[in-house]
Amino acid sequence: MPAFIETQFPIARLSAESYKERKANNGQTLTRLGKWWGRKPLILVRASLLGMLMPASLDPKRDREIFLKILTMDDAGTLARWRPDKRFSVAELGKLAGRDERNEWNEFDIALETAREEVTRLRNASKIIAKGDGAAKELARAAIDAAVCHADRCVEAQQAFIDRLQVRCFSRLTYAERIARCYRPENVDGPSEEAWTEINEHLGTTAASLPELIEQLGQRAFGHTPRVGDAFCGGGSIPFEAARIGCESLGSDLNPVAGLLTWASLNLLGGGTAVQEEVMRVQSDVLHEADRQVTAWGIEHNEQGERSDAFLYCVEVKPEGCDYFIPLAPSWLVGEKSHVVCRWSRVLASDRLQPEIAIVSTSEVAEYKAGKGATVANSRVIDPFDGKDWCSVESIRGPDGLRRWTNDDLVPRPGDVVQERLYCIRWVKTVILADGRTVEIRRYAAPEEADLRREARALELLLERFADWQQQGLIPSKNIPEDGDKTEEPIRNRGWTHWHHLFTPRQLLTHGLLAEISARLARTKEARVGCLLGLGRMADWNSRLSAWMYHAGNEKGNQVFYNQALNCHFNYAARSLSKLEDTFSILSSPLEHADTFRSKTTQRDARDIRETCDIWLTDPPYADAINYHELGDFFLAWQGKQLAQTFPEWIADARAELAVRGDDEDFRHAMVDIYRNLARHMSDNGLQMVMFTHQDPAVWADLGMILWAAGLKATSAWTISTETDAVGIKKGNYVQGTVCLVLRKRTAVEPGFLDEVYPLVEDEVKCQIASMQALDEDGEPNFNDADYQLAAYAAALKVLTQYGTLEGRDVEHEVFAQRGRDEKSDFQAVIERALGIACDVLVPRGLDTTWRDLSLVERYYLRALEIESRGERRKGMYEELARGFGVTDIRSLLKSDKANGARMHTPSGFAATGLASLNGGDIDSLLLQRRGRTASVKAHPFASSPLRHLLFAVRETAAAENNPDSGRQYLRDSFGQAYWSRRERFVALLDWLSALGNSEGMAEWITDSEAARILAGRLRNDQA
Ligand SMILES: C[S@@+](CC[C@H](N)C(=O)[O-])C[C@H]1O[C@@H](n2cnc3c(N)ncnc32)[C@H](O)[C@@H]1O
Repeated sequence: MPAFIETQFPIARLSAESYKERKANNGQTLTRLGKWWGRKPLILVRASLLGMLMPASLDPKRDREIFLKILTMDDAGTLARWRPDKRFSVAELGKLAGRDERNEWNEFDIALETAREEVTRLRNASKIIAKGDGAAKELARAAIDAAVCHADRCVEAQQAFIDRLQVRCFSRLTYAERIARCYRPENVDGPSEEAWTEINEHLGTTAASLPELIEQLGQRAFGHTPRVGDAFCGGGSIPFEAARIGCESLGSDLNPVAGLLTWASLNLLGGGTAVQEEVMRVQSDVLHEADRQVTAWGIEHNEQGERSDAFLYCVEVKPEGCDYFIPLAPSWLVGEKSHVVCRWSRVLASDRLQPEIAIVSTSEVAEYKAGKGATVANSRVIDPFDGKDWCSVESIRGPDGLRRWTNDDLVPRPGDVVQERLYCIRWVKTVILADGRTVEIRRYAAPEEADLRREARALELLLERFADWQQQGLIPSKNIPEDGDKTEEPIRNRGWTHWHHLFTPRQLLTHGLLAEISARLARTKEARVGCLLGLGRMADWNSRLSAWMYHAGNEKGNQVFYNQALNCHFNYAARSLSKLEDTFSILSSPLEHADTFRSKTTQRDARDIRETCDIWLTDPPYADAINYHELGDFFLAWQGKQLAQTFPEWIADARAELAVRGDDEDFRHAMVDIYRNLARHMSDNGLQMVMFTHQDPAVWADLGMILWAAGLKATSAWTISTETDAVGIKKGNYVQGTVCLVLRKRTAVEPGFLDEVYPLVEDEVKCQIASMQALDEDGEPNFNDADYQLAAYAAALKVLTQYGTLEGRDVEHEVFAQRGRDEKSDFQAVIERALGIACDVLVPRGLDTTWRDLSLVERYYLRALEIESRGERRKGMYEELARGFGVTDIRSLLKSDKANGARMHTPSGFAATGLASLNGGDIDSLLLQRRGRTASVKAHPFASSPLRHLLFAVRETAAAENNPDSGRQYLRDSFGQAYWSRRERFVALLDWLSALGNSEGMAEWITDSEAARILAGRLRNDQA
């Protein structure tokens, strides 16, 4: 029996949920534990696992309903997840309500107003009853009470109506709009009791919670609780979510930093409230003790009772011929919101400039933002006084490069070319107001003598501890690898050779202090891990690589890994201890869940996995540009020694030589070995899912072959747009989708031959597309064009991977065969053929009768318009489509070929721009002849096509202010007698074109669509 995910997957809803989770940034469940790259959304993991465990029935519609119910992604589920603080305001309701609803609402308002007026009238009337007239007073009171009662009932009725209206309006929103007002599925209790009744009825289970359901489905399929493994677990999303929903989970990664993050997600967040509270307590104690120490050292407080919270440093250099050191920064704006800037002035008999921190006007802020006073512009050193362009930053380094720092260097030596200086401090003071409230008053100031003494004191304190701390592994001591992809930058640009050089003495002192106290106070493994992760977070947020951000709403140091490089900035910021509290604390509140997780974390090369799982869900570092081993080293420098003590069975090294990377032959060998190993360690009826992000068929073919050679066969594939925003699905402005490829073990070794394979692929593609179209029939569309194309590839993979050999050739031989640049493997050819079939099958609605008679380039143009009208703007999709139709040159059909802004020409647009270059002579030469000019001819297959003539007639109609006669005449002239036999097809095409202008985002088509509508009418009524 196939699993649910092998038949369907609610792509659109999952994309929206995944995006919502992504957008939560630090509100995501695992991100607070620490930085890792390429984390997968937990909801996607949950849905994937459930999809693999839930069997498909013969009723796909009901399957889908039940699947959504389990995930609380059905209508009732979203209603239950609706946040009370995200109900509609009265104004919003007024806009969303229909006319009848507004009328009904009005009636409730009028009824209430009338009732209140009646109360007022009766009260006023009672005032004039004579004092002694007890009976009349009694009567009046009774009448008032009744009227008040009635008014109260009116209020209730109005409220009940508004509540109903809230629900109605909510239900009318698109899914993405609805969930913007909801809690995420992971943050609610799960399906309601009624939902469970339906779920159990359909699945034949007796569950009342997700873990119970998972247990029962696992027992049924595998005879035990399902075991889920991830051999590339990274930040831990997959093992964490697997364990949270009740699976036994295994997380493994080559990199110990990833291991630490995964272990923490499973044992710390998954360890229950008591464990989490202990970690929170220890971290808080560590911070308190460190605070006492820092206060005693006196390195953050000044004589005015203020405490510093940010120290701003810059690099300075002395170009040849210049009398003074020039402090470097691309902008001297310190705070956009606080209107603070830094200015420099000369000091008599000194080669060091003097900073002045000043508050300036809004207009001056804008000038500074635009680069006023900047001393680095376009990688050149600029004099702050006369704007003189001294030299390039590059040349400052000299022919031999910068002096390489040694382990003992903590600040630049006096003779070094690149110097460092503190130029600004932000001070904070808490003031108690007259009304008892407290406010924090912040001010920026240039450092004074006393501040520089404090700075020197911090260095002195560090030096006293430096050797000892390095030896204990409380601060980094390792070298930065010289041969890395990204590690070269700090070495070349600053001479920093050791990881600790990436931190100022103050930063090393604070971090080392916290590490020292943590080592003493953290007694449990969880607390030790919690503190290690805290240190990792601090390294990311408080380093010489933390650029100062002056932007309004920020005014703080940035994260080192805001991207995946080790960028050296000219000015940067250090945080004081008080600013690091939140960074060091990895939990803000305990994470509630029913049981502690059943899980295991190992740190192995995926080729060496030894545990057997029922489901392997993996997200390999597939041809991506992330150097996990290198980036991980940044954290390992801080965590390595203590990690080795906490996990003696692990290797505290990234083992770069074993890391899977690139996309060459080594990569393919590694991947085949890994997936063969996973297939070996998998139940016979188990499943695998491989997640990855490429859509290029070459990449597809590659991955398909790797998995094929590993002994797996594909059963389905789905793309989830994890970067899609709420309107993205409609407007097509997503960045990239994650492809989820579902696989099973291949048990038989059957030989395959291309002549058999092609018809099977054709059937499979058609069948796959038909089933997706059936699911798309009603309600919100689930699939976009990319999904259909992907389905075609997947269908080809499905067919191919059933066989043990192709054309007598072993798959492994195919995978590793050397090919020329344009040479295609049979496998790749089949995959591309599948795309062609999909293109043939996917006929735009309304064009079924005309489609057969159109040439490939005409079909391409119309399909491209169709995807454009659905909001697709990615150029790659237009190219992919062209590949499917075998159209080689689409440039002249595209109005815009921007990467994320591709659009096709409109009929009038062709005229304005590329009409001449497009034509094969016919239309334009005809037109130009008529106008007494000659045409420059450049052939394009589209130019002489009937559709092109038709578009020209549309353009003529639009140009004649919707008088269709010239357009009609043009068609009659162009086609002669054939006009009459083609007329019906023309009308069908014109009808189709006339609807384009109504689609969202197709405003450019409005005029031509109207012209097409009028021309269609004219042609319909045309007589010989
Ligand atoms: C795309 S990431 C996984 C991200 C993860 N799914 C998450 O949600 O955080 C790929 C991972 O593969 C790991 N890796 C690379 N080569 C490996 C190998 N030979 N064995 C095991 N893991 C490896 C990297 O350290 C990295 O963490």
